[in-house]
Amino acid sequence: MLSRLQSIVFALGFILRAAPALALGFWGLLFLRALVPAAVVLAVGQLAAAAAAGDGAALARWGGVWLGALLAERLLGPLAGMVEGNLNEQLTARVNLALMEKMNAFEGLEPFENAEFYERVERLRREASYAPMNLSIFLGQVLLAGLTALPLLALVARWGWVYPPALLLSTLPYALAGVRLQRLVWETVVGTSPEARRMDYATGVALSPELAAETRLFASGGFWTRFYERNFRVLHARGRAVRRREVAVSGVYFLPSALGLGWTFWSVLKGGVGVGGVVEVTAALQRLQAELVLLVDALGMLERSLYYMDELRAFLKTKPRIAGGRLRLEPGPPEMVFEDVSFSYPDGRAALERVSLRLEPGVLSALVGENGAGKTTLVKLLLRYYDPSEGRILVDGVDLRELDLAAWRRRVSVVFQSFGRYALSLEENVRIADLDSQAPIEPALTQAGAAELARKLPAGPATLLGKAFGGTELSGGEWQKVALARAFYRKADLLVFDEPTAALDPRSEAALFGRFAELARGRTALLVSHRLASVRGAGRIFVFKSGRLVESGGHDELLARGGEYAELWRLQSERYN
Ligand SMILES: Nc1ncnc2c1ncn2[C@@H]1O[C@H](COP(=O)(O)OP(=O)(O)OP(=O)(O)O)[C@@H](O)[C@H]1O
Ligand SMILES: [Mg+2]
Repeated sequence: MLSRLQSIVFALGFILRAAPALALGFWGLLFLRALVPAAVVLAVGQLAAAAAAGDGAALARWGGVWLGALLAERLLGPLAGMVEGNLNEQLTARVNLALMEKMNAFEGLEPFENAEFYERVERLRREASYAPMNLSIFLGQVLLAGLTALPLLALVARWGWVYPPALLLSTLPYALAGVRLQRLVWETVVGTSPEARRMDYATGVALSPELAAETRLFASGGFWTRFYERNFRVLHARGRAVRRREVAVSGVYFLPSALGLGWTFWSVLKGGVGVGGVVEVTAALQRLQAELVLLVDALGMLERSLYYMDELRAFLKTKPRIAGGRLRLEPGPPEMVFEDVSFSYPDGRAALERVSLRLEPGVLSALVGENGAGKTTLVKLLLRYYDPSEGRILVDGVDLRELDLAAWRRRVSVVFQSFGRYALSLEENVRIADLDSQAPIEPALTQAGAAELARKLPAGPATLLGKAFGGTELSGGEWQKVALARAFYRKADLLVFDEPTAALDPRSEAALFGRFAELARGRTALLVSHRLASVRGAGRIFVFKSGRLVESGGHDELLARGGEYAELWRLQSERYN
């Protein structure tokens, strides 16, 4: 009960903060509209009495009230609809903005790893366009029905004080059952059910432009529709069972309210109330009955919408695990030291084990090793997307955890193995790496080997890229060049490249590596690559295997050792000879 109250307070607070004027207008109009039915009922009763008594003046007076009330309802309805529409749009936007802001506040990547947490975020996002809207609607309906019922109950109280509580009490079981049932529907059908998630996944795959080519080649479209249907059948069967119970329950709880209504009706009429009284009693009870049913149903739906707000509240309250320190270091190429660093992903799999290494300041180092050896994981730790499970990472002798995280990240530029392809113009795709900078993008384009691409595009650097908004689609290698230009545009002390040339043609790759030493000059640089020829020139090469650092040294030194690196080198050179 208390938590319900908290949810309602949170929901009201959220709505009021999102659009105070609209919310107040919305509820103000509700209040006005709530007075109409009671005014109509009262007028009808008085009109009948006046007609019976042949009182012309009273007839005209109450006729005016009756007509005025009816017209007011006609006028207020559309106005309320307009305010409601505007309010709903504001709410959807506010919820989505709150989601984005909160997600941005998480500096690490664990939230994206935690299935339960991420699923909650996805659900909040999916339902953002209608759940808060439903909340305001059902909250409105509850208020409207409640407010409408109040003056009607006041009318009824004039015949005897016992009638309002009798009518309310007899409706109570029905109300409670309805609320409980809605909770059940939410929990079994809508909420976190795995079937609903799988259905969503199947639709996503079947409709995805990225997967369209494969789905067609493998003719797997039918597989996904069957996948959907199988899960739908399970979900639907559960939903049907719950709804059957809904009908049964409302049948059972119909009895007490019928008794309450019947008893009130007969005992009031028995008192001999005259013509006006008869009209008033029948009209009031009929309207009151309708309002109570509306109120109960809206309460049930409100309960369901409140689940959304509960989830939103829980999400907005979550504390980010990774919080930056305060220290800011002097700019310049940093020295990076890993001291006995072990790391396991949140799912428990060990990705790095007792790794100790030193990236010399102002030197280009390289990481090599098989797939899954832990290279990308090391890069993520450098940027503090995760904290090591054991050991520590030092930047110029200071623990990374003590650094002001935003300031540290500003000093680092990275081409990620899975880089972004933004549906923005080419220029914006580059500038997004440093939004404060006014520097021209051309030097970065040239360094990345993308100057030619920029000339070729229909509108030059202003060309919109990606298909999302009807822009020009690039090839895989062209996108990679854009990502490289982005990395070069950012003036960084630490440069990290995770497989930066995987998609490049041999000429572009050779050109890039020819320039690499020059690009990395005056910075600490780290290159992750499977092409050993490209890491040959690195000052120091670190060789990883199954999460462990197995060798390190210069190219010639490692070859002479005849270990893992020499083996990888032999395998690669054989292919070309
Ligand atoms: N987000 C994650 N959650 C759980 N395990 C992960 C995650 N990312 C990577 N791993 C696991 O950690 C190990 C190291 O992965 P990592 O991406 O660091 O390898 P890598 O050396 O970069 O490989 P590749 O050459 O294929 O890019 C792998 O076994 C991988 O399955
Ligand atoms: Mg990798």
